[in-house]
Amino acid sequence: MKKWTKILISVILLAIVVTAIVLPIVLPVENEPNTTTEATTVAPNPTNNRIECYPFQNMAKGNCTSAGCLWDSKNQHPNCYLPDSSVYGYEINGTVTDLPNQMGFTLDLRRRRAADDSTTFSLYGGDFDQVTFEVNYYSDSTLGLRFYPKDANASELRPPVALTLTETPLTDNVHYETRIVSSENGEPFNVQIIRKSSQAVIFDTSLGGLTIAEQFLMISTKLPTRYLYGFGENTHDNLLHDMRYKMWPIFSRGQAPGMRDINVYGAQPFYMASEEDGSSHGVFLFNSHAMDVTTMPYPGLTFRAIGGMLEFFVFLGPEPESVVKQYSDVIGKTFMPPYFALGFQLSRWGYRNTSNLKDAVDRTRDLEIPHDVQYADIDYMDARKDFTIDPVNFGDLPALVDEVKKDGLRFGIILDPAIAHERTGYLPFRRGDNNKVFVQWANSSYKPEGQAANDNNLYGRVWPIRETAFPDFFKTKTKQWWTEEIRIFREEQKLNFDILWIDMNEPSNFLTGTLLQCPTNRWDDPPYGTMAAHVGATGRLSEKTICMASNFGENDEFLHYEVHSLYGYSHAMATQSALRQILTGKRSMVLSRSTFAGSGKYAGHWLGDNYSTWNQMANSIIGMIEFNMFNIPYVGPDICGFNLNTEEEMCERWMELGAFYPFSRNHNSFIFKDQDPAQWPDTVAVSGRKALNIRYRLLPYLYTLFYDSHTIGGTVVRPLYHEYPKDISARSIDKQFMWGPALLISPVLEQGKLSVDVYIPDDVWYDYYTGERIEVLGKTNLSAPRDHINLHLRGGYILPAQKPALNTMLSRQNNFELLVPLNDQNSASGKMFWDDGESFNTIEDGLYQINTFELKADTLTIKVEKVSNKSWSGITQLLDTIQFMGWSKNPTSVAVNGVILGKDSYSYNETNQNLFLFYEFNMNDDFVVEFQ
Ligand SMILES: *[C@@H]1O[C@H](CO)[C@@H](O)[C@H](O)[C@H]1NC(C)=O
Ligand SMILES: *[C@@H]1O[C@H](CO)[C@@H](O)[C@H](O)[C@H]1NC(C)=O
Ligand SMILES: *[C@@H]1O[C@H](CO)[C@@H](O)[C@H](O)[C@H]1NC(C)=O
Ligand SMILES: *[C@@H]1O[C@H](CO)[C@@H](O)[C@H](O)[C@H]1NC(C)=O
Ligand SMILES: *[C@@H]1O[C@H](CO)[C@@H](O)[C@H](O)[C@H]1NC(C)=O
Ligand SMILES: *[C@@H]1O[C@H](CO)[C@@H](O)[C@H](O)[C@H]1NC(C)=O
Repeated sequence: MKKWTKILISVILLAIVVTAIVLPIVLPVENEPNTTTEATTVAPNPTNNRIECYPFQNMAKGNCTSAGCLWDSKNQHPNCYLPDSSVYGYEINGTVTDLPNQMGFTLDLRRRRAADDSTTFSLYGGDFDQVTFEVNYYSDSTLGLRFYPKDANASELRPPVALTLTETPLTDNVHYETRIVSSENGEPFNVQIIRKSSQAVIFDTSLGGLTIAEQFLMISTKLPTRYLYGFGENTHDNLLHDMRYKMWPIFSRGQAPGMRDINVYGAQPFYMASEEDGSSHGVFLFNSHAMDVTTMPYPGLTFRAIGGMLEFFVFLGPEPESVVKQYSDVIGKTFMPPYFALGFQLSRWGYRNTSNLKDAVDRTRDLEIPHDVQYADIDYMDARKDFTIDPVNFGDLPALVDEVKKDGLRFGIILDPAIAHERTGYLPFRRGDNNKVFVQWANSSYKPEGQAANDNNLYGRVWPIRETAFPDFFKTKTKQWWTEEIRIFREEQKLNFDILWIDMNEPSNFLTGTLLQCPTNRWDDPPYGTMAAHVGATGRLSEKTICMASNFGENDEFLHYEVHSLYGYSHAMATQSALRQILTGKRSMVLSRSTFAGSGKYAGHWLGDNYSTWNQMANSIIGMIEFNMFNIPYVGPDICGFNLNTEEEMCERWMELGAFYPFSRNHNSFIFKDQDPAQWPDTVAVSGRKALNIRYRLLPYLYTLFYDSHTIGGTVVRPLYHEYPKDISARSIDKQFMWGPALLISPVLEQGKLSVDVYIPDDVWYDYYTGERIEVLGKTNLSAPRDHINLHLRGGYILPAQKPALNTMLSRQNNFELLVPLNDQNSASGKMFWDDGESFNTIEDGLYQINTFELKADTLTIKVEKVSNKSWSGITQLLDTIQFMGWSKNPTSVAVNGVILGKDSYSYNETNQNLFLFYEFNMNDDFVVEFQ
């Protein structure tokens, strides 16, 4: 018997089970060594669960083994890997201590050591000998686990991001138990989180490798299955992760998503996984340092982060949507977008002047393409400086904005965080500098030569010609200055924008590091740089950004090294707050390129500077689904692609798909040819208009999905597996997606295809266009002419709709409709949230209404479920058309509130089994509609 096996058995025999109520020593039954072969298959470091020693160092055999790691000569990855936990990791060094009111517990650990009591093995140095492991219960389905140096104040190791956390004693309904797996002195510490209902082990550190060091934290966990989703921001070809030792960097970077496997704009350390029985759980690593995560075929995961503490939140679901909701309970729920933000939006970088931009608006309107928001990119600025207008080409922009807004259009402008270093003549810099709002060097000795002795600002280079300083949005005075600059700009220039689009906030810096190189220090050159440092040209963390050794925070308490990935988060928070102060009473929108967990409270996100390729069109679905899991549901990529010239067919298909992005905007880069849909009046414009009219028709449903996400959490756009978690085939579908539970979208993503391979889950589905029930379920092929995107409605749901129009100001004046696809019980239900679409805080102030719809036993009940404030004036538009799908017989009579309707009030088509009811329902009253 090998030593490992012996350890394993003793580990199991001496397991301590920590449950909610008592902390007895219990044998975990399912791990009985004699009843399972698990123990023998988990040999020490079989090739599917190795933890690599020294990634990126190209270890050869000699230097691998001399560093204390093991070497595999068979050339299997990773061939230099950690020895087993007998010389590595942590062991129990104390007893389980309950937190007050049994809201969790702590346990002291110490580093494993050799027989002679020496701790000889360290990967990167700085290991803490004494570590506290703490478990916090936040609810019956959410718990926290953290590891921090014994004498540290854990709250000071947390990122400066506000979470909503209330520790609570557990109830009998708790979904999980925490099991400390260990043995007598000298055995490694491991912890498992177990789902009580199925006994599935959903988190399990027994793969080894636990490290808590000053600048290197590592932990591995076994996964219950290979169905792993999430982590960001990266682009990939499949929603399901590749489990073959695939490493992903997580660190904000102003990096276009064209290259594979690299870190792009945001940092989203969150994953979801499916278990055998279809239950799902989610795990959030609350850490803003650079990190990477590596999949393991075991299946498992290894996290490597370079500072702070390891603090995980585990969400037990068990439904996938419950996981996303539980995550939102901790990080915050999405902002409620104004209604106009759900309309189609148009932008490009490279409008030459105001009339050039106006031409795009006009030709879109001339072709009757719905259009709600027009943007101006950095072209409008004078010498690309924030808070200026190019007087030659865009001097009349404010007048144009006012003009288009009369027609119901809204206007968005871009702002970058970086501020041109121009002391004379450019007040935004001078006022900011006088208020010390800019990021400072951590040590004045790091400043490049020649910088004035009394100037400690860190300068980089972004869009302005001159070098730029970077506002530190963690400072109160910076937020005040930013608000004031926006207010002054808006008022002085009379530029009545509605939306702020904030870019370059990773923060991005064209001159990597700073104007010169970053100094050498332990922050710019940490012992382990993470994958982020290795995928850039410079091989340093400062790739495309500013130096790590610079200061942030009210009292310079943070290093850029610690809060880099929070720059976009803090920028979005400051910008949303500024808009609330400036646009008094009106809801606005912030669109941010860089995000972190919780950014959804403040901003939406576009997927960045994508390329006009079919592959990136397909990948956009994955990005959009992932950001919905991250609770940033207001998301979409640049329709028709940003970089490269698009092609007619691609742009046509992309407009069709883009009509179903929550954030639906066509945007293009400088130098590439115009790609607004009117460029191709007979194809892209026609198909785009058709798809957008469907979008506009369904906006009341989309808006209601946002209301739910804003109030209770959960996704707006979701993958099929969220609705069909037990369906194994649904778990890998990523070329189709859903709006909420009821609308399935199946776009064409390949050139030259006039049909599309789809997967239709086993359920009742109707073709959106014909209203016919579809017969073939599972894997099938659907016809998809160039102007057609396949859409299916799910039986059992009632979708509120409204007749479309050229923009939402107009469509909101039209009458409502209901789409009622029936399930096999001939029933369906749904609801609609409605408010004025633009006032701030309508939900909090009770200025809204919710109508519910329920069809059951041949009776449709329409109810005003909620009008919570007397000053809400009600809905003026009527509901005038209801389409029932899957209605099996022509009714002999239809009565509304007991009054029988004339035969011309409804029409039944036996062939497609659709029943149309034409009747003017006042949305502020209740109705009972009976069918016989
Ligand atoms: C290991 O050896 C290789 C080849 O000699 C060398 O390039 C590399 O830098 C070494 N790595 C370490 C960590 O010593
Ligand atoms: C914990 O470890 C420290 C230092 O290694 C040792 O002095 C102490 O006795 C240990 N405590 C327990 C309870 O094992
Ligand atoms: C830990 O740090 C937090 C935040 O700085 C502070 O509020 C708290 O008082 C500290 N706790 C202790 C025990 O020092
Ligand atoms: C605006 O730009 C367009 C395109 O470059 C050009 O043709 C036009 O003359 C310009 N108009 C004005 C008023 O400058
Ligand atoms: C700043 O750098 C200088 C020179 O490298 C060093 O002597 C000094 O200790 C540093 N100061 C701080 C506060 O780290
Ligand atoms: C009834 O439905 C069929 C199948 O969708 C369609 O072809 C036909 O035109 C419809 N009839 C009427 C009167 O609308």
